[in-house]
Amino acid sequence: MDEQKDFSFQAPRGMRDVLPLVASNWRYVEQVLARSFQMAGFEEIRTPLVEKEDLFVRSLGEATDIIEKEMYQITAKGEDAEKLVLRPEGTAGVVRAYLEHGMQVKPQPVKLYYLGPMFRYDRPQAQRFRQFHQAGVEVIGDGGATTDAELIALLWKILRDLGLSNLTIQINSIGEKTSRKKYLEKLLEYFEPYKVDLPEEDRKRLKGNPLRILDSKSPQVQKLLEEAPQIVDYLTSEDLRHFKDVLEFLDDLEVPYDLNPFLVRGLDYYTHTVFEIFGKEAGAQSALAGGGRYDYLMEMLGGPKTSAVGFAVGVERLIHEMLTQEVAIPETTLRPKVIVISLGDAAKKLALKMEAELWREGIPTTSAMGKESIRAQLKLANKQNIPFALIVGQKEALSGSVILRDMIDGVQETIALKKYLDLIKKKLAV
Ligand code: HAM
Repeated sequence: MDEQKDFSFQAPRGMRDVLPLVASNWRYVEQVLARSFQMAGFEEIRTPLVEKEDLFVRSLGEATDIIEKEMYQITAKGEDAEKLVLRPEGTAGVVRAYLEHGMQVKPQPVKLYYLGPMFRYDRPQAQRFRQFHQAGVEVIGDGGATTDAELIALLWKILRDLGLSNLTIQINSIGEKTSRKKYLEKLLEYFEPYKVDLPEEDRKRLKGNPLRILDSKSPQVQKLLEEAPQIVDYLTSEDLRHFKDVLEFLDDLEVPYDLNPFLVRGLDYYTHTVFEIFGKEAGAQSALAGGGRYDYLMEMLGGPKTSAVGFAVGVERLIHEMLTQEVAIPETTLRPKVIVISLGDAAKKLALKMEAELWREGIPTTSAMGKESIRAQLKLANKQNIPFALIVGQKEALSGSVILRDMIDGVQETIALKKYLDLIKKKLAV
């Protein structure tokens, strides 16, 4: 064997390989999510992983963490055209696609779901990655409070169907632009006397995006927030009606929630209802999913005013929560039931044909014909726990027969080649 060489490549920081055993969990979770979304009337949309930077700047807001520091910019060699970025989230791309493809003329609302990788250049830590995956839904063209409640109930149902318990939903309303403006004035007024003593980051927040002060992790700010004005007291009667309706529908559906007057979410496009859902390990960084209403995003991107609401689940966090809660995740990998083993050129040709025949019959089959000896091939079959081997040696190839070996008890029989398929189907009960 070659001497071990130095190997210094690793997956980029904050990005992970999903290895085969874990990929089985992913496939299961993705299938449940996609099926549940379709069950609720959503159709899949796949948008590019890359969009114009400006799409996110306009949607998420300039003074947000994502825009200020978390975007991956892309430059193609030899191209100095527009600035492209890896998408940090899915909503803006979906809304862009809705406008680009004139979906306004379709029956409203348009209900779309997506599943795929997102990228944020943040400091990696537990359950915070630079490449992560979201499964999300967007209902575009519907302003009713029922839809907000319907989506929260859908999210709740899916997470419970996946076997999770101990979940908490946090919900708040940040109203319409007008009520928010009034509230922000009050908030700034409240913080004015304390401003000079605040940590730099919080002072920056007050200046650029005061609502984000509610998200501050600083104990000093959190203490001050206890007495700070709350947005719910500044909602207009219409805003309040919408919020109350959402809560009433949730009560009716027996979906439990906690009111969190400080929940604002990190993206600027929200109006009215915002919500997050937490697992057992509730903590600021560990929301399993988040979403809300965004009635002005379409306009912000140059389209007609169109109400919309949606949410996205973090797939890594969801799977992590399932493993933490020891939920049994069904295996989704098809494992080989048969290995075709051969020796010599004539036998290999025959074995290749048999393998293709077994695949056609829907029987998962593998081979390792590159290995010279039958013993080496059998050893592999044992290691991989493959229940049956079909062995074709030179003798069998000539005489039109094949050996069927039960790998569990080691019993083997020689059978006529034309009978092997029926026999193996019988043994596997397919
Ligand atoms: P978000 O709260 O930024 O919302 O992300 C949604 C979920 O994605 C989070 O709750 C979390 O589970 C997961 N997530 C976010 N960042 C990371 C990360 N760095 N590492 C691992 N998981 C992460 C949105 O993105 C909105 N587009 C949701 C939405 C859809 N609102 C309306 N429609």
